[in-house]
Amino acid sequence: MTQLTIRKPDDWHLHLRDGAMLKGVLPHTSTHFARAIVMPNLVPPIVAAAQAEAYRGRIMAALPEGHNFVPLMTLYLTEETDPDDVEAGFRDRLVTAVKLYPAGATTNSQSGVHDIAKVYPVLERMAAIGLPLCVHGEVTDPAIDIFDREAVFIETVLEPLRRRIPELRVVMEHVTTREGVAYVRSQERNMGATITTHHLMINRNAILVGGIRPHYYCLPVAKREEHRLALREAATSGDRRFFLGTDSAPHVDQLKESDCGCAGIFTAFNTLSCLAHVFEQERALDRLEAFASLNGPAFYGLPPNEEHITLERLIEPVIFPKKIRTADGPVTTFDPMVPIHWIVSVAS
Ligand code: NCD
Ligand code: ZN
Repeated sequence: MTQLTIRKPDDWHLHLRDGAMLKGVLPHTSTHFARAIVMPNLVPPIVAAAQAEAYRGRIMAALPEGHNFVPLMTLYLTEETDPDDVEAGFRDRLVTAVKLYPAGATTNSQSGVHDIAKVYPVLERMAAIGLPLCVHGEVTDPAIDIFDREAVFIETVLEPLRRRIPELRVVMEHVTTREGVAYVRSQERNMGATITTHHLMINRNAILVGGIRPHYYCLPVAKREEHRLALREAATSGDRRFFLGTDSAPHVDQLKESDCGCAGIFTAFNTLSCLAHVFEQERALDRLEAFASLNGPAFYGLPPNEEHITLERLIEPVIFPKKIRTADGPVTTFDPMVPIHWIVSVAS
């Protein structure tokens, strides 16, 4: 196959940042994607509906002319979150999901949740009104090895939460392990999972072999090869519970290339090329549309996009720019480490 037309994709987990960075990165998403779940981990975080509304306004103001793009806003869950504010945001069609960051789990998560029991009233309200919870599924206990944090989270936080509030719709964000995939598959209802592009392409060797490579460092950190293979199987299976969330998370190079570099990989601009490569390798190009454009809207109860995009396979590998410039500084782009032959040739 040398050409593939699919419904326009959505990104169900995206970091757009704010200010100059927002202006620099947004066009890379809005060129190829119709909608995105926008993560609320700004500094300070988007914790209330009024802040989400103002942030949505800044995103729309940064959108290049002629781009049709709908940001789907999220609220950052804290132990002080007011269930009434969350419900009002949902009823106003402003808030599409609420995000749970265990405190300290990742970039800008200091204000996150220490004790899940404290947020049960909000979660119960969300279950009652049908508002999904997006979960960063890693424990933060320093005694737990960083490569085990997802598996331990499932056992000690997620499963008890599911038992307590089975009607809550939960998205396990950026699932990275075989255990994560198996857990999602074990859940018949009210459960979805996003998978990133980079976790389908790299394992932990990318970060550590031949030198330490900060631009492959993200959270949850990439795991062993067996886990990458489990993710590929899930993403390309067509199973409706799995859908694309790039977790494209730009940081200026200065903050990545440091003695304590930030977590996050900027993948927005070449994600669809990389995904076409992965699905082609798995002989599943016919399921790319399910993963990128159909399963996500189905989970969130939204219609799939009416527009389409066309991907084209070129004879020569595509040369991607190594960095994008923003007024905040350069941002290194995701290098898939293998030749990629696919480009988006038409987006409408
Ligand atoms: C994200 C960021 O930089 O905001 N970083 C990352 O490594 N994915 C936060 C997150 O989603 O964990
Ligand atoms: Zn993220």
